[in-house]
Amino acid sequence: MLKNTKISDAELYEIVCEELERQENNIEMIASESTVPLEIMELSGSIFTNKTLEGYPGNRFQAGSEIADKLEILADERAKKLFDAEHVNIQPYSGSTANYCVYSSILKPGDKVLSMRLDQGGHLTHGSPANFLSKVYDYDFYGVNKDTELIDLDEVREKALKDRPKLIIAGGSSYPRLIDYKSFSEIAKEVGAYFMVDMAHVAGLVAAKVIPSPVPYADFVTTSTTKTFGGPRAGMVLCKNEYAKLLDKGVFPGCLGSMHLTTMAAKAWLFKHAATDEFKNIMSSILVNGRKLAEELEKRGFRIVTGGTDNHIVMVDLRKKNITGKLFQNALDSIGITVNKNQIPNDPQSPFVTSGVRIGVTSITQRGLRGKEIEKIAEIMERVADAPEDTTNLDKCRRDAHELISRFPLYPENSFND
Ligand SMILES: Cc1ncc(COP(=O)(O)O)c(C=O)c1O
Repeated sequence: MLKNTKISDAELYEIVCEELERQENNIEMIASESTVPLEIMELSGSIFTNKTLEGYPGNRFQAGSEIADKLEILADERAKKLFDAEHVNIQPYSGSTANYCVYSSILKPGDKVLSMRLDQGGHLTHGSPANFLSKVYDYDFYGVNKDTELIDLDEVREKALKDRPKLIIAGGSSYPRLIDYKSFSEIAKEVGAYFMVDMAHVAGLVAAKVIPSPVPYADFVTTSTTKTFGGPRAGMVLCKNEYAKLLDKGVFPGCLGSMHLTTMAAKAWLFKHAATDEFKNIMSSILVNGRKLAEELEKRGFRIVTGGTDNHIVMVDLRKKNITGKLFQNALDSIGITVNKNQIPNDPQSPFVTSGVRIGVTSITQRGLRGKEIEKIAEIMERVADAPEDTTNLDKCRRDAHELISRFPLYPENSFND
């Protein structure tokens, strides 16, 4: 795939090869990552890179759009069919920009928005003080119940009644359980708010119908096409027909510039692929692997936030092990298992240290790891947590982790040889 770069820029070529080797040899368990099919990479770098295009099929700002129009119409039709959605806008560049597009479609500066707190599972683009949106809109936040660690719908309703927000958002980055979209939509109706679901993390599971879909309940559904979906680095928005015009105007010219036709082609491929049994089986296996990992870690003395998982995310509270998220992340990284430190609900530690880690099973499931291997990963994690600074222990764990992952090639041999 890189035969020209290899000749014209050997230094850069080397960096890409190093990353390929790192992924090949590591057990990748960052919850937002996946091992994408090779077609996604091929299409993400296709001839469509050369074409600049704005607007919508039949109403473009540039000539020479007939073929790109076919592409966008095909992607739209496939996405609508896959998610049983009334309308889709496939132009957003990522999950973050998909969210900005919805805000630009329906909100005015100063409007009130109710969303999930970042430190209890939400996302930066849902109004975190660290994001510029917090200066544009007036955010309030709900969290999880202190005892169950599940979304506190009573708090959502109370705050919705008090704030009368224009928009209520559900969905997050580190929430391991199903979300009651129906109750959220009822609260939104009661207070006259739009209801948006950000399904960035779980879109693949929704597409495969192995977990419930927010589409029947939400006015707008945003997503990344990476993460469980396993597609290109891009995004999209689904909505009801009544908001189609509003959304399309909010996306372009409201928020974005020219379309990324390359990732749009990769999205079109993904929407067809996601309807296959092969994809559905992998998504089912992700749920099985997630539950298995939670059980195996719990058996080994880790506390699992909410007591388990309904998706690809396992949130681990490390306090019983007397180590921080930062130390555990670094120790695991040093032996070839990649996770990220993450605050747990009501975490006494800062976001830079944390009491927990977020672990995802998407990438390893796509690579073929199942029950026995999940058990082995939990066992290695226990050994690392028990002596995270003992180099003899870490050396043994590194050998075991490498032996395990080397039995599951990232891609078929010679996939990247030109
Ligand atoms: C819930 C949620 N929304 C949006 C995003 C942003 O997606 P992207 O990285 O595609 O911009 C993320 C990323 O992790 C996320 O977890």
